[in-house]
Amino acid sequence: MRSQFLPYCLPTIGEEEIAEVVDSLRSGWVTTGPKTKRFEQQFAAYVGCRHAIAVNSCTAALHLSLAALGVGPGDEVIVPTMTFCATANVVRHLGANPVLIDVDEDGLLDIQQAERNISPQTKAIIPVHFAGQACPMDEVYRLTAGNGVTLVQDAAHAVGASYRGAMVGALGQAIAFSFYATKNMTTGEGGMIATDDDGFAETCRRLSLHGMSRDAWKRYSETGSWYYEVTEPGYKDNMTDIQASLGIHQLQRLPGFIERRRHIAAIYNDAFGELPGVRLPRELEGRRHVYHLYPIRVNAKKAGIARGAFIEELRRRNIGSSVHFIPLHRHPAYRDARQHCRGGFRVADELYDEIVSLPLYPGMTDGDVQDVIEAVREISFEHQPMRVYAFQAATTTPVSNSL
Ligand SMILES: Cc1ncc(COP(=O)(O)O)c(C=O)c1O
Repeated sequence: MRSQFLPYCLPTIGEEEIAEVVDSLRSGWVTTGPKTKRFEQQFAAYVGCRHAIAVNSCTAALHLSLAALGVGPGDEVIVPTMTFCATANVVRHLGANPVLIDVDEDGLLDIQQAERNISPQTKAIIPVHFAGQACPMDEVYRLTAGNGVTLVQDAAHAVGASYRGAMVGALGQAIAFSFYATKNMTTGEGGMIATDDDGFAETCRRLSLHGMSRDAWKRYSETGSWYYEVTEPGYKDNMTDIQASLGIHQLQRLPGFIERRRHIAAIYNDAFGELPGVRLPRELEGRRHVYHLYPIRVNAKKAGIARGAFIEELRRRNIGSSVHFIPLHRHPAYRDARQHCRGGFRVADELYDEIVSLPLYPGMTDGDVQDVIEAVREISFEHQPMRVYAFQAATTTPVSNSL
């Protein structure tokens, strides 16, 4: 058993990031400045979009996108219930109603139920690329074709993921990324809006800094001018150069991070494939999964142990884990959102009873990975409900668990 606790998640920060942050602190540009611009350009080149607007969180990216699209009081916005609260909170912040929708077995928006819930009030849909795997975008586009409903993609988990060969971020008008501490790349706190739409980009950029016509970089640099106008009451969502210092280097390292994540996921898949009552995340056809999360499902009856007890057993063995997510309709703040949904949450409720996110991040050593495997196999083995024992001499050896 491990002597030290293995956290479910840790960022991988190197000396380049640290030196770049120090450089920013020494330069005097500690708010939005040249490094934020550089980070935006590099990010746009990486995902293949025309504009990338750096902000201080994915929450801000989602909020600004909806605001720029004119979502407001009385509007409805379709949101999967299996997501982090930020996806729906921003809808409420604008006075609109989130319409919570069930998910499929992979945790992705239930397209049929979403379709049934489109009403004359529906202004937008927010598909969430859950765990680092893209939603079925062909079907999502079909949902919004010709009906005036817009798409804001929650790609908090999905930087580097792709759908039918196209990067998430190159696929639409408004895609929101997160660089929160746990994400596949981090700026501490941070986010990005990716878009191909020039007008939308301009509106988001303006709204991200009070609605001012010029940002600080344009005003305070050598060639800048002091004059600006506030064209509408905006927000204070801009990214700082200190954050961008991290982002520039994290982005360079992202392909390596993703390879390591995919490698660990492949090792887990091999190790857990045969465990009774345990279901593994799968990579769907036409996707490149970036495994921000590795959520397994533990079926209490078949595995002989309930999810909560499974988490406790992991903890006893010094392995951290988490649950993604507590479905929104189960939170007090969103219980009344049921009234806005026509349909139930059968799959999300089943998932919620069973899911556990295991540790998976680039900083894990091969030894850490083996410790997780050993712990999961041991717990599974100890709790198998229907073991057949081969009585050999004085030993009891389970030989089958498939009865
Ligand atoms: C699906 C999803 N959307 C949005 C967010 C919000 O991201 P941020 O913390 O960058 O605001 C998160 C954060 O965990 C998330 O998991």
